[in-house]
Amino acid sequence: MSNRNTDFPETANPLINLEPAQRLLQRHLEHNESYEIEIDGIRLFMLPGVFCPAFTNTSKFLANQVQVNANEIVLDMFSGSGYLGIAAAATARDVVCIDHSPIAVECARRNAALNNVTHKLEIYCGDLFEPIGQRRFDVIIANPPLLPGYPKTLLETAIFDPDFNLTQRFFREVRHHLNPGGRIYLIYSNIIEMTSKGSVAQFCEENGLSDRAIGQQSVDYEIYTVHLIYPAA
Ligand SMILES: C[S@@+](CC[C@H](N)C(=O)[O-])C[C@H]1O[C@@H](n2cnc3c(N)ncnc32)[C@H](O)[C@@H]1O
Repeated sequence: MSNRNTDFPETANPLINLEPAQRLLQRHLEHNESYEIEIDGIRLFMLPGVFCPAFTNTSKFLANQVQVNANEIVLDMFSGSGYLGIAAAATARDVVCIDHSPIAVECARRNAALNNVTHKLEIYCGDLFEPIGQRRFDVIIANPPLLPGYPKTLLETAIFDPDFNLTQRFFREVRHHLNPGGRIYLIYSNIIEMTSKGSVAQFCEENGLSDRAIGQQSVDYEIYTVHLIYPAA
């Protein structure tokens, strides 16, 4: 899969308005060279083709809802530039970041150094939980691709997940990576409910988990919810 492409993706569902996603992709494609951003004191070195957490509300909104205690071990799944993992490293004992994009992983490694948290971050390139075997965590943070389109480039895999298959795979495996008392912070969009592909509540129920909404934000075309998810009692 290539890194750069100017064709816009097709929706997997005709009811979904992809214009906001197209604007988001266009904003990324305007960057042909590396650039730097800062969010709440976290400096980020960005490469073209990597999801930029400053271009949407989701990453910062999720970061503001996540609570990590000292000594906790954190997994930042779908880590991109490393923004959420670096934010968690302010209090966590250790943070593991996973992303399947080698360019995102390169950014995350540079950003760990830029923010002086290299000693706390382990960063892996791979598909979902594959790089970490059976390892378990106290906190798992996830900002997955949220829209049902067909990705044609690595950048588009940050945004599009046809039929929400990646999220469903995440749900099938995630419980096996939680320590006793562990919890998950997941941000998700109500766009899934406009399709007939399920819901966070359904995925939780199917996988022995229970969830509570701890934050909600409306933008003009969708509603984001931060879910706090635990193994069901
Ligand atoms: C919405 S972005 C979130 C990035 C970052 N967490 C943030 O908030 O800025 C989703 C990320 O998931 C990654 N991704 C997509 N499919 C993946 C997979 N199968 N395994 C691991 N990461 C994946 C993308 O490369 C992208 O960086």
